[in-house]
Amino acid sequence: MRHFLKETDLTAAETARVFESSARMKSSRGSESPALARQSWGLLFFKKSTRTRVSFQVGVHELAGLPVMLNADDMQISRGETVADTARVLSRYLHGMVIRCHEHALLEEFAASGTMPVVNALSDFLHPCQFLTDMFTLAERLSPGRPDRYAESLKGRKVAFLGDTACNMANSFVLGGAALGVEVALAGPAGYEPGAGIRAQLKKDGLAGTFAFSTDPAEAVRGADMVYTDVWVSMGMEAERAERLRIMQPYQVNARLMSAAKPSAWFMHCLPAHPGEEVTAEVLQGPRSIVFDQAENRLHVQKAVLAHLASAR
Ligand code: CP
Ligand code: NVA
Repeated sequence: MRHFLKETDLTAAETARVFESSARMKSSRGSESPALARQSWGLLFFKKSTRTRVSFQVGVHELAGLPVMLNADDMQISRGETVADTARVLSRYLHGMVIRCHEHALLEEFAASGTMPVVNALSDFLHPCQFLTDMFTLAERLSPGRPDRYAESLKGRKVAFLGDTACNMANSFVLGGAALGVEVALAGPAGYEPGAGIRAQLKKDGLAGTFAFSTDPAEAVRGADMVYTDVWVSMGMEAERAERLRIMQPYQVNARLMSAAKPSAWFMHCLPAHPGEEVTAEVLQGPRSIVFDQAENRLHVQKAVLAHLASAR
């Protein structure tokens, strides 16, 4: 039984194979093998979602499985049924589960209590499906037409992550970047350094000390192959909105900051974006922005992950 709760749940070799099969899923869309035939996968959401919800539902369908859409608010779990019992019950019906939730511990408890693969569709701690897709999207540009070289082409590349450097996406870059040999330079306000949780995970995976944090955005983007940002107010952080908008202002990705990166640098954002906050409309819609390729690739990469987990059962 395999789960995908964090970037390091796939080995480097498996990640390279998932990239190759993502490229195949992309080029053969409509004639892919029915990897989830006669299977039903639950998609359980405790938080809002546009891309993840739709790309997983469509993805399970395209692999010939049945996606079962579940909103936590409509289920007994929101009235106090335990995570463990929910996992045990749903394991009697379903072949796998995709979950978006608040505490990462819920995913771990669900995976430990059930008897089916669990995929992290975003927790407060990590967003591994997005990270994997982002690396695939960058590799498409670095090694066009050679999916067999995607993983290799990422090694030694520099990614700058600006703004909320303590959020789930930043954590995913810290962990996943270390695992794939990508240099990750974070720049955000003092007090937003990657926290104890992600440092502990790095250590557990034997990957300690492979990222850099600075409060200077220009330092982070210098020589970067890709500049990344995420919203300044993640889901669940709304009470801190005014303060975050104030202190993160110097980390806005704008044309001036982009010009400090490599001339060939791409701009990426997991979306949804707030133009005028973490990124200017000019950069978001500009020629270096590949945000809609990222959004599209969620579908192809997640299909490859689902097929991989189904075959590993
Ligand atoms: N990037 C991403 O996960 O988007 P959604 O919140 O719309 O799913
Ligand atoms: N950091 C953001 C990502 C949204 C896809 C959030 O958690 O809201």
